[in-house]
Order: sequence, then structure tokens, then C-alpha cells
Amino acid sequence: MLNPSDFIKGSIEEIKNTIGDNKAIIALSGGVDSSVSSVLTAEAIGSNLTAVFVDHGLLREGEADYVRETFQDRLNFQFLDASQEFLERLEGVEDPEEKRKIIGEVFIRVFERVAEEVGANFLVQGTIAPDWIESDGNIKSHHNVALPHGLVLELVEPIRELYKDEVRILGAELGLPDHMTQRQPYPGPGLAVRIAGIITPEKIKICRKANAIVEEEVHKEGLEKTLWQYFAVLTNTKVTGVKGDIRDYGYLVVLRMVESLDAMTADVPELPWIIIKTISQRITAEIPEVTHVALSVSDKPPSTIELA
Ligand code: XMP
Repeated sequence: MLNPSDFIKGSIEEIKNTIGDNKAIIALSGGVDSSVSSVLTAEAIGSNLTAVFVDHGLLREGEADYVRETFQDRLNFQFLDASQEFLERLEGVEDPEEKRKIIGEVFIRVFERVAEEVGANFLVQGTIAPDWIESDGNIKSHHNVALPHGLVLELVEPIRELYKDEVRILGAELGLPDHMTQRQPYPGPGLAVRIAGIITPEKIKICRKANAIVEEEVHKEGLEKTLWQYFAVLTNTKVTGVKGDIRDYGYLVVLRMVESLDAMTADVPELPWIIIKTISQRITAEIPEVTHVALSVSDKPPSTIELA
């Protein structure tokens, strides 16, 4: 990347030339890439960019408030609670790929409605280099996207040539706070890929709480700067435990913490044992439905980062 302020200047110019006085829309997930793309694009076209944050009901604890607080004064920000629509479609679905597919479909439907309301001609996306290098090697940066009901939007990808570390630097240069630019990546389908088996309100609650505990403890130790991702997976396995002198039967939660540069490979680092113990103790103490916490020690490859 050029130096960040030159990149920003050049990028603003290019976005202005491309979008002009038209309307654009971006799906702002609250992740680093879409956040930086939103802010950069808004620097160029102001409120002609609508940044839509969709709550699919599978967000991390406090996520909706966090994203709203971070962006509502800075962007033409639209919050959309579509959780009922997502959760209804996911009812009874076990297969993780099927969950991803459904979430993708519902997302496009919801997003298309907003794009139509706004009268958007352009779709801004936070694509970064590893996204397209891995998938198709396609170096073309602008093309059209046809949404299912016929809406055709021209694609704008302002940070397409950048890598994650560069995106974080750019975010800081754009004035985003450290806690935003240094966030861990979070999969678009959210907790859906961290809950094994069918998704129920109870399982969402358990998984959300376990993840909040992991994040809290990692942040307390300042480990978020070195870890790529840190999270808890709610397995579909129930195991025997003991509470007081009574036999208990509850969920097994898997704790996963990895270091990585770009998610293509990942290592499980040696972590201070006390943090593992504390997280385990807190999860079983604060979530009565969980009887056992296990630690994942598998690198990628052969494992993937997510378990689902
Ligand atoms: P895996 O599990 O394939 O994950 O090693 C690599 C990176 O991608 C994230 N991930 C996803 N992100 N939608 C996303 O937006 C998904 O369906 C998805 N699945 C995995 C994962 O968190 C890791 O950073």
C-alpha cells in the first residue's frame, strides 16, 4: 500500500469518479473490512452511501449496540432487525453448509429490499486481497451484481488490493478507534457456525454467553493483540457432570484460540494456562447448561479455524 493518507486521497477521488451523485449501499457487518470500506466511501460520497447493519439474531453479545454506537453519528447508518426472518428459516436445520446457504439467501433478500428503498445503483463491498486471490484469482475490480429479483448494482471494492494488516492501518488513519480496527474477524453467519446441530433460542443464549466470557478474559489479559480469533463452540454433545452432589448432564463447549496472518493457515499458540482455567471455570459457573469445557489444540491445516 502507498502511505495511508495517499491511499485515502486516491481512493476518495476514484470513488467520487465512479459513483458520482448516485446512491450506494454497503452491508456493514461491524467487521474491520466492511467498517473501513464504509467510512472510506462515506468520506467520498457522504450520505449517498447507506450503510446497512442487519441483525440476523446470531450476533455476539452487545454487537448491535457496539456497531450502532460506533457508526450512527459517522455514517448514514441503517439498523435492520431481521432476526425473526432468519431464525424462522433456520428452524430445524442441522447441516452447517445448509445454515450458511440459508443465511446467505435471507441476507440477500433483506438487503435487496433496502437497496430498492434507497434507490441504490452501486454496491460497495469490503473485499480484500485474500478473498479473491483464494477464490478465483480474478483481478477485475468493477463489475455488476444482479440480485435475485432483478436489481442490478455496480460493484465497488475500495480496499480490494489490501491485506488485513493494511486495512487496520487504514482504519486508524480514517480515525476509527483501536478497539474497532483491531477486532478479531467474525464469520458473517455469526453464531450459526458456532452452534452444532439445530439452532434454538436456548442454544443461541448459551453460545453467546460462552463467547462473551472468552472475549472478556482474552481482553483482560491483552491477548487480543496477538490472537487472530478466540471463541467458544457449543457442541451438540451432552456429557455427564456433577453439581454439588447431584449428577448433571449438560453441554460440552469447545474453546478455540488461534494465531494467524490471513486465516489460510493457523496455529494454536501456547497460552498462559491460567486463562484457559479461568475461562473454563467461568463458563461452567455462569452457564448452568454447560458441564464441560474442552480446549481445541489443532492447527490449520489439517483442521479449519471454525469447527462447522
Ligand atoms: P475456516 O474455518 O475455513 O475459516 O478455517 C477461515 C476464516 O473464515 C471465517 N469463516 C467465515 N467467514 N462466513 C464468513 O464470513 C463463513 O461462512 C465463514 N466460515 C468461516 C473464519 O472465522 C476464519 O476467519
